[in-house]
Amino acid sequence: MTRYAINGMGRIGRTLFRVLHQRGQLHHLIAVNDLMPKENLIYLIKYDSIHGTFTTDIEPTPNGFLIDGHEIIYTQQPDISKLKWQQLTIDIVIEATGLFTHSSEMQQHVEVGAKKVLLTTYSKDLPSTIWSVNDQQPSTLVSPGDCTINCVAPLLHIVQQAIGIESVHINVIQGYTTRQQLIDAPYKGLRRGRAAAHSIIPFEVNIRPVLETIFPALSGKIETMSTRVPIPCGALADISLVLKNNFSADALNELILHKAKAEMKNTIAITFDPIVSSDVLSNPHSSLVDGTLTKVTNGTHAKLLAWFDNEWGYSNRLADWLIKMSS
Ligand SMILES: NC(=O)c1ccc[n+]([C@@H]2O[C@H](COP(=O)([O-])OP(=O)(O)OC[C@H]3O[C@@H](n4cnc5c(N)ncnc54)[C@H](OP(=O)(O)O)[C@@H]3O)[C@@H](O)[C@H]2O)c1
Repeated sequence: MTRYAINGMGRIGRTLFRVLHQRGQLHHLIAVNDLMPKENLIYLIKYDSIHGTFTTDIEPTPNGFLIDGHEIIYTQQPDISKLKWQQLTIDIVIEATGLFTHSSEMQQHVEVGAKKVLLTTYSKDLPSTIWSVNDQQPSTLVSPGDCTINCVAPLLHIVQQAIGIESVHINVIQGYTTRQQLIDAPYKGLRRGRAAAHSIIPFEVNIRPVLETIFPALSGKIETMSTRVPIPCGALADISLVLKNNFSADALNELILHKAKAEMKNTIAITFDPIVSSDVLSNPHSSLVDGTLTKVTNGTHAKLLAWFDNEWGYSNRLADWLIKMSS
């Protein structure tokens, strides 16, 4: 049985915990590491303002906590080089602190005994492998991109293959995260330091180089930005495309529907219901295209809008990766 450990039990670490439980994969999780007291972690797993109350009992034990008769070891160790992956015979570490994204930092988990490492964002120096796009046989260190890349890359892949893309502009309208401030404070990206629940906050995102590596033909033809809005979860990617060939909005929706029923079945979906962001919460797809909003002007200027739960959808892809990395 493949043995997992999570380093960093924040939003993504805890959402992945719930997804593993929902999918019957939690018995693979042997250990988790974070900085907070154990009682606080149990409390935050149990009560979640976005995903609701976790109804399965979690009992503290001297070394961690017990759930469904399975003990998960809990440690509070900020230094990767002191983690006990060797003694715990951990196969795959999910690196979810957001702090250790360089391959040399990920490699430290291997040096203390883990066989493989799955990052929960894109790496500073490793190429990204995106589920359903370029998810070939994974290597020891996997950089699976972030939630935004996982939403837009499958759609760009479909359009690029079927129609061709001249250029693309992506604006991801997304709820705030822990990397913003609750009230005004100094921050290196000035706008990120502004009160997150109080304003619409545009800021730059650095996913263009990652997308250009995945789609080399689009180098120099991609522009990206993010608009953070005062909601705690949920996102809408607004993708403006200049197409290489004429296409209609209906044909674009048909193309996506076809892929959503075939090889991208678990990754993308399309809806024609008039939904809002709260309706996408707990949706397991990387990308839920809003077919009612697909537009094409003048044959080649297209707009696709795709919803995603930046926590739940992404954590489902991490759970998919864990299965793939286990084989
Ligand atoms: N949130 C999303 O929607 C989302 C979606 C996709 C990908 N991601 C990516 O996933 C990563 C984590 O994001 P997140 O939103 O889950 O962040 P988060 O909520 O801040 O979680 C990070 C956790 O790691 C803990 N931590 C900090 N330093 C540590 C250390 N040295 N050792 C062990 N634990 C440590 C943090 O504790 P403290 O709070 O005490 O510092 C926190 O509990 C980021 O790279 C992010 O870009 C996030």
